[in-house]
Amino acid sequence: MMSGEEAPTQQQQPEQEKKPDEPPPAAAAAPEAPQEASGSGAAAEEKPLTCRALVLTGYGGYDKVKLQVKTLSKPQLKAGEVLVRVKACGLNFAELLGRQGLYELLPAPPVTMGMEGSGVIEAVGEDVKDRKVGDRVIALSRSEMWQEMVVVPAERTFVMPDEMSFEEGAALPVNYMTAYMMLFELANLRPGKSVLIHMAAGGVGIAATQLCQTVQDVTVFGTASASKHETIAQGGVTHPIDYRTKDYVEEIRKINPKGVDIVLDPLGGSDTQKGFSLLKPMGMLVVFGAANCVTGQKKNLLAMAKTWYNQLSLNTLKLMQANKAVCGFHLGYVTDEQLFSRTMMTLLDLYRQGKIKPHIDSRFHFEEATEAMKRMHERQNIGKVILLPEPKKEEEKPKSDAEAGESAEKNEDAVSEKKEEATEEVKAEKD
Ligand SMILES: NC(=O)c1ccc[n+]([C@@H]2O[C@H](COP(=O)([O-])OP(=O)(O)OC[C@H]3O[C@@H](n4cnc5c(N)ncnc54)[C@H](OP(=O)(O)O)[C@@H]3O)[C@@H](O)[C@H]2O)c1
Repeated sequence: MMSGEEAPTQQQQPEQEKKPDEPPPAAAAAPEAPQEASGSGAAAEEKPLTCRALVLTGYGGYDKVKLQVKTLSKPQLKAGEVLVRVKACGLNFAELLGRQGLYELLPAPPVTMGMEGSGVIEAVGEDVKDRKVGDRVIALSRSEMWQEMVVVPAERTFVMPDEMSFEEGAALPVNYMTAYMMLFELANLRPGKSVLIHMAAGGVGIAATQLCQTVQDVTVFGTASASKHETIAQGGVTHPIDYRTKDYVEEIRKINPKGVDIVLDPLGGSDTQKGFSLLKPMGMLVVFGAANCVTGQKKNLLAMAKTWYNQLSLNTLKLMQANKAVCGFHLGYVTDEQLFSRTMMTLLDLYRQGKIKPHIDSRFHFEEATEAMKRMHERQNIGKVILLPEPKKEEEKPKSDAEAGESAEKNEDAVSEKKEEATEEVKAEKD
């Protein structure tokens, strides 16, 4: 964690904010952190910087995520590290879980959240050979990405294709790596197969659908709210199914009486049982989430208990007799750096070839984090929700096509409400 006085703000802006793209003349300041401050590295100016960050201050609802300004000191990078000025960050379902205290890989609050982002390298530590100041990169970290400046190992950065926007760069890694590893490392997707994709209009869902299109004759069944069907059908879902009004098992069986070859299950509970029942012999179910535990901004113990109670319980003898495979996937527990890099390189190549392209649903400035999280909880998003560290400008354009009609007044109210909340929080912490 970085240290320094923390204060909520929309007005205070670090001096460096004025020239976001301009690299400093020498190696720049690195955020202070006990583990980052030691060791030899590229020293920079001693002048402290300030940095806007979205900090999880405790577990609970939207109000637990605060916009704060951190003062950074002891500017030093360890060998192998780079300093990135962040331009865009991804919001993931895991952060909704993390806010509720349900994501085991997120350090305890107070912690700056965020696993993925994109930006420009401002300084490199010793021994960093293949990254340089000015490189536009995608950056990954277990947490801490939702801030203006971040220190990450160079090997967790990936140079972006010139044609890729910062928003696309921030949207790509978690969703596409998850989808790619499930489909190709685990499920061995091949021509002619059929795949059931739940949450098909979400970040991972759209990524998985696009990746299915890279293999010949793959049939995609996708569950999503009806209003999203046109978009997902255009994106490659062969059979969109409205899970809210129809029984998706029946709908799939009407089309494919024998079921499907692959089920990607981010829901858990009774949906895992349904997924298993839908598998053809030799089929594979990949369990990778428990979204059924989440029903709104606050933790829902009943939903969690129901999901846990209804989970698939397996008897290995029956599994053998069924000729079916069940496996789990969690990107956060992938520790093979080579697999990580190889997958990112493959995805960047697919992007260059025009075979994949992140679908950006909406973008929100840090001061609008509540609206961003709400958009996912209320199931409004189609594709990726992006967070922007840059402060919001007065006459800002609408964040998404769907919200084009919303008044600026509403945004201003939300911002000032947030300012008040954050001020109260800091006051309370000082008291
Ligand atoms: N294991 C891993 O490594 C890994 C990595 C990334 C994501 N995941 C999992 O993959 C799933 C999708 O994640 P994502 O980040 O791409 O999010 P997302 O798909 O953008 O999630 C939002 C959309 O999912 C649908 N949805 C279904 N159940 C929901 C619920 N309980 N709450 C809110 N929305 C729900 C909604 O669309 P409709 O209107 O169509 O219902 C909503 O718009 C999550 O379960 C997440 O935990 C796992």
